Amino acid sequence: MRMILVGPPGAGKGTQAARLVDTFLIPHISSGDMLRAAVKEGTALGKEADRYMKAGGLVPDDVVIGMILERIAKHDCAKGFMLDGFPRTRPQAEALDAAMTKAGVALDAVVLIEVPDQLLEERAVHRRTDPQTGTIYHLKYNPPPADVSARLVHRADDTKEAVEKRIAKYHSETAPIIPFYLEKGILKRVDGVGDPDTITERIKAVLNS
Ligand code: AP5
Repeated sequence: MRMILVGPPGAGKGTQAARLVDTFLIPHISSGDMLRAAVKEGTALGKEADRYMKAGGLVPDDVVIGMILERIAKHDCAKGFMLDGFPRTRPQAEALDAAMTKAGVALDAVVLIEVPDQLLEERAVHRRTDPQTGTIYHLKYNPPPADVSARLVHRADDTKEAVEKRIAKYHSETAPIIPFYLEKGILKRVDGVGDPDTITERIKAVLNS
């Protein structure tokens, strides 16, 4: 299975990916997680990415395209992968398409998790992540257990101001990839409002249909 999870910031892509990889036994490749790891390590790529990410902007296409195409060429992706957060612009979608055609493989599905804008800000601003396990919590909807609370991380781009910019960027830069995949006949729309278990079942249902 070669698939992509698309959706606005806070739609639940990371939450759902963590649940789905166990079913499909494919690597979860999050461009956001890879960029945050580069920022933490202080690499040249991380330093460049940090400027854009903090402000809620997008990292330049050439940087992200190189990073992801290199990652999916690795051995563990030979039988499939789940991309989360990439592609995020039309040039990224076209670059992925060209690389996969060259490699003689094709995407099976693009799952679009749809959540209205008015729910996204609250989801992102109150998100907390466990740096040790990668588990994503929400202070209200998925509260962390008391013994991990002290080590949880609040992402630098989960401020109200940055989230508003990220939502605007989603509509201007990422939404245009939807018709690209619609034309290919592989776009699957999923309602992202409801409890996470229900949404996982909805995604599995569209992938099996
Ligand atoms: P990235 O890390 O990809 O962030 P994002 O797309 O903005 O998505 P999020 O991680 O914010 O949300 P999510 O959909 O994964 O939601 P989650 O499951 O955590 O990118 C970050 C930045 O990196 C970008 O802004 C950009 O600068 C850069 N970048 C990354 N990729 C790039 C690219 N390809 N090109 C250029 N730049 C790139 O859930 C959110 C919260 O909601 C959690 O607290 C969760 O517990 C809660 N929640 C989840 N599901 C539910 C539910 N059903 N009901 C209630 N709460 C829920």
